[in-house]
Amino acid sequence: MTPFPASNSVEDPALTGKTFRSQRYDLAVDTISREEIDEVIKWLQGYPRLTMADETKRFEEMWSKWLGVKYSVMCNSGSSANLLMYAAAESSGRAKKKKIIVPATGWATTIAPAVQFNWQSAMCESSRKTFGMDPDQLAKLCEQHRPEAVIVVPVLGVPYDVDAILELKKKYGFMLFEDCCASHGALHKGQKIGTFGDMSSFSFYYGHHMSTIEGGVVSTNDEELYHHLLMLRSHGWLKDLPQELADATRAKYGIDNFRQPFTFVIPGYNLRPTDLNAIIGMLQLKKLDATVQRRASNHLVYQKELAGVVEFAPGLPGDTISSISFCAVARSSAERKKIVTELDKNKIDTRIFTAGNLGCHPFWFERFGKFSAPVADWLNQGGFFLPNNQTLDRPEIEWICGIVRDAAKRSG
Ligand SMILES: Cc1ncc(COP(=O)(O)O)c(C=O)c1O
Repeated sequence: MTPFPASNSVEDPALTGKTFRSQRYDLAVDTISREEIDEVIKWLQGYPRLTMADETKRFEEMWSKWLGVKYSVMCNSGSSANLLMYAAAESSGRAKKKKIIVPATGWATTIAPAVQFNWQSAMCESSRKTFGMDPDQLAKLCEQHRPEAVIVVPVLGVPYDVDAILELKKKYGFMLFEDCCASHGALHKGQKIGTFGDMSSFSFYYGHHMSTIEGGVVSTNDEELYHHLLMLRSHGWLKDLPQELADATRAKYGIDNFRQPFTFVIPGYNLRPTDLNAIIGMLQLKKLDATVQRRASNHLVYQKELAGVVEFAPGLPGDTISSISFCAVARSSAERKKIVTELDKNKIDTRIFTAGNLGCHPFWFERFGKFSAPVADWLNQGGFFLPNNQTLDRPEIEWICGIVRDAAKRSG
């Protein structure tokens, strides 16, 4: 197949402004435009404070409003946001037995804190419909382990089975963490993913729906967890708490006013962002809805064009997928190899499906043994990514799908 003629010239200034684009179909492209960098330079020329202060608070308020939650705590990455969710569950005393169910498909740092904090973890099989946690398998694990927490991933922006998992939450009373690091703007029956659990995390790394260079956020409607997140992000100190609560906490310990800001209540971290990240975040938020819309409509083109050619997560009726890449699954590793070769010849980036089966990575199996289950193994063997981002449009995706179709046909 000949290269798509206008391949790398399509740019939509309403979405991206002028961003760097290579001569390949990259999986990840920058969302920070030159115009936005110019605005940042203007802000810098006012010689503002750069470390975390008022701009971060303003970003957090804007983000909470966009997502539809009460509280958000910005931090320096999506992985840090995940770490904070586990830490807040522990320090608020809601995970005394430290028992969690984790997904087989997601990202390494979705589950790394469970290992680092020595939580008793059981891994859950994935669903063919969503590639997220399979609710039937989760039900079995809940019966067996009675977890205090479950961490779900809307895999690549495909909403997990929210209704079924909320039913299980009601029945078993676990805390629900939503790792939405790659699913900004995905919807379950019109409501944003990241608003259904006790806490949710998002990443603002390069190539995601929006970027703050590096960055992340934890969002929650729970005031007590919010206060723990604030302390955990900054050394465990009282300084960032609302004044009244800081005063009351100091008084409880009989500490004088002078010492108050530097009183360390819980063992914390330093996971702070900078105000520079927050300024970029506010610029990015302005176009997030347009970016999400483009990614969602591109995803539908992939689904239509590749039906019957490769497998993919169809998602659940009434849900909206906002994908970071399109995940296709070949019938075998051999077929995947043929498709990948053709993609590479045509300068279309690809890679394995996220981390494949997380239970097949040394950080997991060296401690707990290999995890094997039909869907997670199938994704591990046949899954690969196709580019979806806000710079791609329908003709380009149709062209990419043509390459995949031809390669799949040839492999028989
Ligand atoms: C599901 C999931 N969780 C966590 C992360 C980590 O985010 P970060 O790269 O900002 O640390 C990612 C990154 O893509 C992710 O996809």
